[in-house]
Amino acid sequence: MRVAAAVCAAILMLGAGSALAQQPDYTKANADRQAMLDRLGIPASSLRPGADGFNRQAPNAANYDEAKAGDAELPGLLFVATGDRVTSPRMWWRVRRPEIVEAFDREIYGRVPATAPVIRWKLVKEERASEAGMPVIKRWYEGTADNRAWPQAKAVIQLRYTVPAGARGKVPLILSFGFPEGFRFPGPPRPPEPGPAAPEQLLAGGFGYGVVVANSIQADNGGGLDDGVIGISLRGKLRSPEDWGVLRAWAWGAARAFDALAKDPRIDARRIGIEGLSRYGKAALVTMAYDQRFAIGFIGSSGAGGAALYRRNFGERMGNLCAGGEYHWFAGNFLKYCAKLSEADLPVDSHQLIALVAPRPIFIGAGTVETGDGWVDPKGSFLAARAAAPVWELLGKPGLGTREFPPVLTPVIEGTIGFRQHQGGHNNHDNWPTFIRFARSKLGVR
Ligand code: GCU
Repeated sequence: MRVAAAVCAAILMLGAGSALAQQPDYTKANADRQAMLDRLGIPASSLRPGADGFNRQAPNAANYDEAKAGDAELPGLLFVATGDRVTSPRMWWRVRRPEIVEAFDREIYGRVPATAPVIRWKLVKEERASEAGMPVIKRWYEGTADNRAWPQAKAVIQLRYTVPAGARGKVPLILSFGFPEGFRFPGPPRPPEPGPAAPEQLLAGGFGYGVVVANSIQADNGGGLDDGVIGISLRGKLRSPEDWGVLRAWAWGAARAFDALAKDPRIDARRIGIEGLSRYGKAALVTMAYDQRFAIGFIGSSGAGGAALYRRNFGERMGNLCAGGEYHWFAGNFLKYCAKLSEADLPVDSHQLIALVAPRPIFIGAGTVETGDGWVDPKGSFLAARAAAPVWELLGKPGLGTREFPPVLTPVIEGTIGFRQHQGGHNNHDNWPTFIRFARSKLGVR
């Protein structure tokens, strides 16, 4: 069940800006988390443990039984804080949407402070090549964060992209959260996935593709919060409970990458999408929710803290997200819900995060429980998408094409929210063809 865990350990070993850096400094992460708990008045002993994804006999063994997942009662989507029903698009945009954004800012992902650094982009390399049987232009950029206010911290965001050289008119582009060039997960090499890789599929489908290196924006480690863009913004202080966590920083970094992409006359800035898997799937969803310039999202196996409902008991739970290896993804306030409060006390749930994407198209995917992706609660993501759909309808777009959890391999792409479960476990590979089909139709790519 825990294929995700191996990937997770490997990603954690990546340091900011370098391919395979040293092991993460858990001592520092633990001290940072402890300081936040102290500030919130939470004894560490009162934190709920997460689900145990390894030991089936553990009292807190992860639940993979649908009958025990619980019937989550979700916070209302289309009611404003005063209790009135949202009856018009205007009320959504003016009142309800800002209320939801505020709750995610304050309690879940944190706020981007005014001290977030300015990023200066520089083209460092350009090459002409041939890919997917066509001439392409490849570019590599570095985005240096202005750290003059706090030189002890630094960040150089790595961005690279490829566009067809001979395209008539501007091309749409899908940007992925990813790894430094040439990066390989430690351990024995994995056999290549069958069929063409995503970049080749995207080029053949009329898209350019790009990668922003998540860890070059912000290290994936609580011990690194004094460095990267968060560290620059903090200027030597610890985070306050509402300050940004790493997912918000990654999403912000992707938005800065958008700024650079939008300046290239070959790229259609109205058709730039964002993709990610697992923790990067969470980041892609946060990107879509917060930056309305992104035209489409491919959210793969994002699980808890992403598209899956917090209130369902299936696979990963909030207690895992609050542990030393993951708490840094979130605002400090998030820790409250792992101690005195619980999932049921969250002012929002993931259907409301998905709803922030409306009316733009979004595709949510996952593997199956049987092939090792149960940890991300595929059905919980479907239920969240279904619960979010009324906002698309309010805004005049079809929501999700079905109310029934579709059988495995069945694409649901008729509406503006796409969904598909594949059989490849914890990856996005098997869903790329469906996503590309969805994206071509929603973005009108010919
Ligand atoms: C762990 C973690 C997940 C995360 C995943 C990954 O499994 O519990 O929340 O999505 O790692 O990013 O690989």
